[in-house]
Amino acid sequence: MNKAISGFSKLSKEEKIKWIANQYFSTPTEAVALLKNYWNSDEKIQKLHDEFIENTITNFYIPLGVAPNFLINGKYNTIPMAIEESSVVAAAAKAAKFWSTRGGFKATVINTEKIGHVHFIYKGDVSKLNLFFAQNKSKFFSETESITTNMQKRGGGILDIVLNDKTDLLPNYFQLHATFETKDSMGANFINSCLEQFSKTLKEEAHNYALFTETEKEIEVVMSILSNYVPNCIVRAEVSCPIEELEEKHILNPQEFAEKFVQAVQIAEVEPYRAVTHNKGIMNGVDAVVLATGNDFRAVEAGIHAYASRNGKYSSLSHAKIENGIFTFWLEIPLALGTVGGLTSLHPLVKLSLEMLEKPSAKELMQFVAVAGLAQNFAALRSLTTTGIQEGHMKMHLNNIINQFEATDEESILIKKYFKKNTVSHSAVVTFIENLRK
Ligand code: MEV
Repeated sequence: MNKAISGFSKLSKEEKIKWIANQYFSTPTEAVALLKNYWNSDEKIQKLHDEFIENTITNFYIPLGVAPNFLINGKYNTIPMAIEESSVVAAAAKAAKFWSTRGGFKATVINTEKIGHVHFIYKGDVSKLNLFFAQNKSKFFSETESITTNMQKRGGGILDIVLNDKTDLLPNYFQLHATFETKDSMGANFINSCLEQFSKTLKEEAHNYALFTETEKEIEVVMSILSNYVPNCIVRAEVSCPIEELEEKHILNPQEFAEKFVQAVQIAEVEPYRAVTHNKGIMNGVDAVVLATGNDFRAVEAGIHAYASRNGKYSSLSHAKIENGIFTFWLEIPLALGTVGGLTSLHPLVKLSLEMLEKPSAKELMQFVAVAGLAQNFAALRSLTTTGIQEGHMKMHLNNIINQFEATDEESILIKKYFKKNTVSHSAVVTFIENLRK
């Protein structure tokens, strides 16, 4: 059967669902019912979600959890996390509790510069292009004034524009490299609007520039777009304490633990196979907070992984050391986030998450996100270097099986008691439940 369709976007939501159900499902009525089951009963909320994207047919749930007891720069916070993976929120909460009695997390924003480019082709004398840029630079600022006025009132705007010669990489390739301060907004719209105006100014001014030949006047703009690589928009999160204070249930010998922990981090610093998984653990925390607060996790992911490769080899985002009996563990990551604009004022749960974080500035949100990443990384490395990661995972797995079999409270107590001493596997749990129910 031909499953192509023209004019799909023009169909109503009901019609879209009907078409899909009939094309792809052996029981279309059930498919329709399932899709509708996930609609919100409040029509206003549903309409809002329908309009976030195109061709919406239903909502796709991801749990929103919270990790309390995060002591950050001397203040307690509860961090909202939107994530589908079990154990992540529990690990964050455990790490938060652990560090809350050891001085808490320290977080600092190092810088907040955003970047964008006009990528263009110029075929001609480079010294003339340099002169043209120097003589016309102020026009890029003056001709974007209508876009920048509001941002300037908030203390932001265009920081600088430089002309970069990239002809060593690609013939005739140049760029305007612009830097921006966008305060509490992520700034994508602002930056892209400025860049598109730069591109117009560039073409017009080049056209009128008396020193250019006819060929040189024909600057070809390939594209104007912000960069999600923001190596000068960095936040640092850190924990530290005297080694002996590391002692707790799973850390009987703190010195040995600290040394093994540092080794685990060093392995991630030198071995990309490990670095990717190590950083994935950090992103468990980072993405969950980024998503809960309505920010663009794809942008954050792309930028952070590029940063992890900035020295030519993919490496760990976090670092650890022991110095004079003090254990220190920290990370530095680039984060371009916003707490105004975009989804932040539209999605009811994003608004709720931001309120839970006491309406943070973008800088404060950068700190929360970095801390969540560091906490996650600490929890993972603590498990990996002590009990192994499966112990905690299997506990969660056991809960999932108990729920799947709709065990009663009494059954649940017996199952958990038995599997405290016995190894959890899907088949062992199923057999145990079946025997219980015989
Ligand atoms: C699982 O989601 C994340 C870990 O693999 C991270 C790590 O290995 O450090 C546990």
